[in-house]
This record gives sequence, structure tokens and C-alpha cells, in this order.
Amino acid sequence: MSYALITGASQGIGKELAKVFASNGYNLVLVARNEENLHKVKVEIEDAYAVSVCCVCKDLTMKDAAMDVYNDCKQMNLTIDCLVNNVGIGDFGEYACSSWDRQYDMVQLNIVSLMQLTHLFLPDMIQNNSGKILNVSSTAWLCSGPKMSVYYASKAFVTRFSSALREEVKPHNIHVTTLCPPSVKTQFQQSANMKRKKENYAITAKEVALKGYQGLLKNKAIVYCNMQSKVLSILVKVLPDSVCSKVIMYINKE
Ligand SMILES: NC(=O)c1ccc[n+]([C@@H]2O[C@H](COP(=O)([O-])OP(=O)(O)OC[C@H]3O[C@@H](n4cnc5c(N)ncnc54)[C@H](OP(=O)(O)O)[C@@H]3O)[C@@H](O)[C@H]2O)c1
Repeated sequence: MSYALITGASQGIGKELAKVFASNGYNLVLVARNEENLHKVKVEIEDAYAVSVCCVCKDLTMKDAAMDVYNDCKQMNLTIDCLVNNVGIGDFGEYACSSWDRQYDMVQLNIVSLMQLTHLFLPDMIQNNSGKILNVSSTAWLCSGPKMSVYYASKAFVTRFSSALREEVKPHNIHVTTLCPPSVKTQFQQSANMKRKKENYAITAKEVALKGYQGLLKNKAIVYCNMQSKVLSILVKVLPDSVCSKVIMYINKE
């Protein structure tokens, strides 16, 4: 039976990804902290699709959490064919005034948990000569991001790491795709303390999830979800980073 493991699956983009994978016949392992929310997602999905859903409640900022997730899957005898590293948080504001704990947790979630889960599940995929990894980055990876410096930089890490890994694992029939959503209305903005008054969300979490799934299936390297994102990805190649930073600083002014 095919299992997809999705981190940050209790709400937002992760929940929508879970629904898309389930609608395509994948059984699921869902990871997040909030047991009640995870259970609600499990019930919703099992009611709608003929798949089985396991919930693993973990705080992925914790040092051994990724290892615990891997061991739980082994104990349940589940083979993970598809790893979706979706979990991620942001933090709005000047770095000098930021909470160190929040910055640390951001790196643990956005970078370390993604690296470690990949490191743990990849050898099994190599042994099976098949597997899929979908890493959720952001269009934020394209520029330096004043007022969200660590977040933007963490997503640059995700995209660069994923592109490198993609080449390494090609001979093993493993696909690695990076999903780069633009701004999407979820709890992300509130938890990142973003106070932009008027944000135009051009796309929904559901649409992002579908684009990500389709891109993974087509073995795309990077998935941008709309035309604006694609244009931005071209623009940043011709504009100096200093100009991009100024634009982001202006957009991120409070
Ligand atoms: N929303 C956007 O505008 C946007 C744009 C581009 C990229 N992205 C990326 O998309 C991904 C998903 O974001 P989202 O917008 O869906 O965010 P969200 O709605 O805030 O959801 C975050 C998910 O991560 C889980 N989570 C948070 N902290 C955790 C922890 N310490 N351990 C385990 N799970 C944790 C949350 O569940 P619990 O609270 O239950 O743990 C929740 O399921 C992130 O990587 C984000 O960077 C978002």
C-alpha cells in the first residue's frame, strides 16, 4: 500500500495536500502538534476517500522528533513512498528585535526537520528504487527578504538543497520537486505576526496543493503556482539582488 507522509498537515497547505494525495489513492501519515486538529483531518479524509490515515503528533522543533516519526512508521510497518516536507513557519520583523527562540524554531522546522526526515526516509526509497519527495519552499526563496530575513533565507536553502538532491537521486528513480507558493491565506500570516493591511491572495491553499501534486507527478524540478510567480522567477534573474531587497523592504514596511 502506498503511503505519503505529510508534515504540517493539520491545516493550511498541508491539509489540502493531504486531501489531494488521498483523492489520488494514497494512504497517509499526517504529522503536526495539535492532536485534535489532526484527528479532525483524519476523519474528514477517511469519510471522503477509501484510504487509511495515521496521525503522528510531534513537535518537529524537538531534536529527536524526526527520528521518532521515522521509528513510528517502522513500528507500524508502513513504507513511505512519498515524503512531503511541508511544515514551516515565518517571523515578521527586524532580525535585531526578533525572538531568538522563534528564529531557532524556524530553522529547526523549515530546514533541519526537512533535512532529517529526508535523510531518514531516503535510504529506504533508494533500496526500493522508487520514491517521491515534495519539499514546500516559497517564492520567497527568489530574493533576500528584509523584515523576514531568516524565513526567506530558509526557503532559499530548501530550494537549493532540493535541486541538488534531485540530481543525486535521479539514478534511483526518485523524484524531488520543490513547490514554491506565493502568498496564500492560511494561519501562516497570523503565526508569523504579519500585519499587512491589504493582501491580495491570488491563489488558494487548495489550488497550491493541486499544483504541487501535479508537478510532483510530472517530475518537475520547481513548481510555481501562477503566472505572477513565474514572471517573478525570471525578473530576479535580471535584477540585481540589491534592487530586489529594496523592493521587498518596501513591500514589508509596516
Ligand atoms: N501561507 C503562505 O502564504 C505560504 C506561502 C509560501 C509558502 N508557504 C509555506 O507553506 C508551508 C505550509 O504553510 P501554511 O501556510 O499551510 O501554514 P499554516 O497554515 O500555519 O500551517 C502550518 C502547519 O504546520 C504545523 N506546525 C507548526 N509548527 C509545528 C511544529 N513545531 N511541529 C510540527 N508541526 C508544526 C501546524 O500544525 P500544529 O500547529 O498542529 O503543529 C500546521 O499544520 C510552510 O512551509 C510555509 O513556509 C506558505
